[in-house]
Amino acid sequence: MSEKQTQLKVSAIKDGTVLDHIPAQSIFQVIDILDLAHAANPITIGSNLESKTLGRKGIIKIADRFFEDAELSRIALAAPDATVNVIKDYEVVQKKKIELPETIVGIAKCSNPMCVTNHQSIPTRFSTVVDHKKVKLLCHYCEKTTEEFIPLGH
Ligand code: CTP
Ligand code: ZN
Repeated sequence: MSEKQTQLKVSAIKDGTVLDHIPAQSIFQVIDILDLAHAANPITIGSNLESKTLGRKGIIKIADRFFEDAELSRIALAAPDATVNVIKDYEVVQKKKIELPETIVGIAKCSNPMCVTNHQSIPTRFSTVVDHKKVKLLCHYCEKTTEEFIPLGH
């Protein structure tokens, strides 16, 4: 580090989960997917922080909350390279990567305007396919492939 770091940009937490290395533009999608707007836990959010690898990154610290892997895997589309840090008594006791789930229910929108999920209130359902390191979504209903992640409601 070239400059002397005098303070953490976002305070350390005693117990809970730190989601790090979130692409800056995806931080609010992650908040949405994990429904953090309705959580009662203390949450600190750092947006557009400097990162050596990502240029700018986001970080979300959720105190006193520990997530199931299945719950965390829901953020794979928005933040595939995020790091999950489990904090207990101020120490990082576990560090893991997000795993891409085989199927994604809800969360993403089908890019096919004719798809039934865009006309009736049916939850979207996709199989994930990794092609040249990019995640593609294969719609269970119309069998079309969606190349980019479009959050529901967009
Ligand atoms: N952290 C925290 N509270 C703690 C301990 C750690 O909020 N009590 C946060 C740190 O600020 C950091 C993340 O958890 O954002 C991971 O901590 P650590 O592994 O110590 O940092 P790095 O080595 O920079 O992580 P990485 O190698 O994953 O970039
Ligand atoms: Zn479809």
